Amino acid sequence: MTVVVLSASPNASGLTAACARSALEGASGEGADAREIRLNGAGIGLCRACGDGWGTCRGEHRCQVEDGFQDIHRRVIAADALVLVTPVYWGEMSESAKAFTDRLRRCEASAGSASRLAGKPVIAVAAAGGSGGGLVSCLGSIERLIQHLRARQFDLVSVNRWNREFKLRTIGESVAVMVRGNPAG
Ligand SMILES: Cc1cc2nc3c(=O)[nH]c(=O)nc-3n(C[C@H](O)[C@H](O)[C@H](O)COP(=O)(O)O)c2cc1C
Repeated sequence: MTVVVLSASPNASGLTAACARSALEGASGEGADAREIRLNGAGIGLCRACGDGWGTCRGEHRCQVEDGFQDIHRRVIAADALVLVTPVYWGEMSESAKAFTDRLRRCEASAGSASRLAGKPVIAVAAAGGSGGGLVSCLGSIERLIQHLRARQFDLVSVNRWNREFKLRTIGESVAVMVRGNPAG
């Protein structure tokens, strides 16, 4: 089984990075092929809302803006399961997570039940390392994203500075259970 862990913080040694590490350990501990993709620095630009609002995303389910998005889109489609780990910024997912998932949503949600993420298990992790506020709104928008993608919402995990220790274990366990339940591939 291939698990792609999308991490969306510019900080390579912060809370988000620790959450991504737990996810990778949980997956590889069950024998999965787990890879992290760091979205910051991956050269993913914003959706340009081509044409009168839709470009090739609508009919061809691919983004016509050629940049770092294409390769990661392919890898996400090829994966058996996804983990999205984002820091909480202003009660929302980070800018790099938003840039990638906005374009992913356009390409896949427009395919309806033929979305290449349909039924694919997803775990989302929101890491609020400041006040700890904004976890619900951040995970709420990710929940809508997962619905639009027609993926399977396996788990939504909120992490803050106070629950960090046991939530890191929770992430690893959640990913391990997801892998055990989806051994094919
Ligand atoms: C622009 C910005 C906005 C933030 N907004 C929030 C917030 O709404 N709630 C919160 O708890 N922390 C907030 N933080 C703090 C981050 O969630 C915290 O630093 C988190 O640990 C970042 O992940 P990192 O450890 O990977 O850098 C914000 C940080 C930044 C840079």
